[in-house]
Amino acid sequence: MKLKHSFFTRRQFLNGLLGGWAGAFLASFLYPALKFCFPPTREPDQVVLPFSDFEDMEPGSVRNFSWGTKPGMLKKRADGSYQAFVAVCTHLDCNVVYLPDKKKFFCACHDGWYDENGVNIGGPPPNPLRQLTVNREGEELIITKKSVE
Ligand code: FES
Repeated sequence: MKLKHSFFTRRQFLNGLLGGWAGAFLASFLYPALKFCFPPTREPDQVVLPFSDFEDMEPGSVRNFSWGTKPGMLKKRADGSYQAFVAVCTHLDCNVVYLPDKKKFFCACHDGWYDENGVNIGGPPPNPLRQLTVNREGEELIITKKSVE
């Protein structure tokens, strides 16, 4: 049985299919290229953490938290106050870890070292670790960007 009226001819259907495929193919290259050229800024102005997750920390110890898409590290000082850092190396953005036995922050990418206050002391890092401001409000720790001085 043959239909009298068809909405699409076979040629129109194949052209539409080919055009859709070409558009998807092009988008699969353009989207990553545009994301590379214009990376999203995902760094928050502040994060709020439950104090209960950090109150049992020993003085001198460090615990990780998420600073947006970057790692953050919260260190408890000997006097019980807290100090926070963006745990990203100031050389080429590798993640930094804290070595409690050495009381130093370490970047394994190019053997970069920071002292326990985040000051760059060895290897290629050109600047100290970025510090964040820590305030306790009730049962919350409010971590905020430090204003540029
Ligand atoms: S990225 Fe950390 S020392 Fe190079």
